[in-house]
Amino acid sequence: MQSATTKPRVFSGIQPSGGLHLGNYLGAIRNWVRDQDKYDNIFCIVDLHTITVPQDPAALRENTLDLAAVYLASGISKTQAMFIQSHIPAHAELAWILECFVPMGWLERMTQFKEKSGRERERSSAGLFAYPALMAADILLYDTRYVPVGEDQRQHIELTRDVAQRMNQRFGELFTLPEPMIQAAGARIMGLDDPQKKMSKSLAAEAPGHAIFILDAPEVVRRKLARAQTDAQPEVRFPAGPGVTNLLEIYRTIQGKDWATVEKEFGGKSYSVLKTAVADAVIEALTPIQQRYREIRTDDAALVQHLRGAAERLTPTANTTLRRVQEAVGLR
Ligand code: AMP
Ligand code: TRP
Repeated sequence: MQSATTKPRVFSGIQPSGGLHLGNYLGAIRNWVRDQDKYDNIFCIVDLHTITVPQDPAALRENTLDLAAVYLASGISKTQAMFIQSHIPAHAELAWILECFVPMGWLERMTQFKEKSGRERERSSAGLFAYPALMAADILLYDTRYVPVGEDQRQHIELTRDVAQRMNQRFGELFTLPEPMIQAAGARIMGLDDPQKKMSKSLAAEAPGHAIFILDAPEVVRRKLARAQTDAQPEVRFPAGPGVTNLLEIYRTIQGKDWATVEKEFGGKSYSVLKTAVADAVIEALTPIQQRYREIRTDDAALVQHLRGAAERLTPTANTTLRRVQEAVGLR
């Protein structure tokens, strides 16, 4: 049951649904890179979750490699386990078994399902409904201790714990109970076009000026920031409104500066001075990532080989858990 290292096992899952933005980078990826040596990490690219809503096959393939390449380019070490969910069949196999132990009522209460299915409930896929059971399988297969997620995923981790406990009670100690690892005070980057809303992939799809993407070219970054919402005041003044605060937050997070410093730096300055400084900082942070990304994507075969290699190394661990469960329920 114990992993080979003494570091706690962390499992994180990210959907290859395209368009990683500055919020994902500053709020998540950058912290994972910073903390990667503290944990025994598994970074899973959850393509099976992505197909719970309609996808263009070519785009899915592309987004999957993009995500892997952006991770490596951002500084996730090649020694960390990063793999594609569908490369390890045990995920789908355990998910099925868990689905047979998760009551419909639990799944019906999931807010993400309610939001994603919306008024199209009858037409949304059975996969979208069963999604939390697949996520539970991802986590439970590796005896995970911590799962870094956003607040929105807390309910799914609770369901994971509930189904694990239910099966442990019935069959003995099958699973390690995971805990969510939710950033206490991570960056919360807001939309450039509307600083009342969190920067998100879905809003970005509707309004191109909403988000800066990690792979945006410098001139695109400048254009989006030039149009970002500010305040009705003639210059930067404190307390600043949400638009200016968001720009300062982006700047501050990238530069690692505290509020007092940025207030002194920009108080009384024009919005264009602020926006230029934010653009410079964002471009400086993203340019090396984009360069490494392009290098990595020139050799997709090597990237796929890397992902396959990680999947091969993880498969025995996943299969050990799967077998334990299969035996417990009477499937072998
Ligand atoms: P998502 O794109 O919602 O699946 O989020 C992936 C990761 O990025 C999660 O850890 C989120 O908490 C983080 N994240 C998403 N949007 C933002 C944002 N606007 N600001 C900060 N972190 C974010
Ligand atoms: N549901 C998660 C999200 O949309 C993605 C995910 C799938 C995940 N499996 C996971 C996250 C396992 C953490 C652990 O963000």
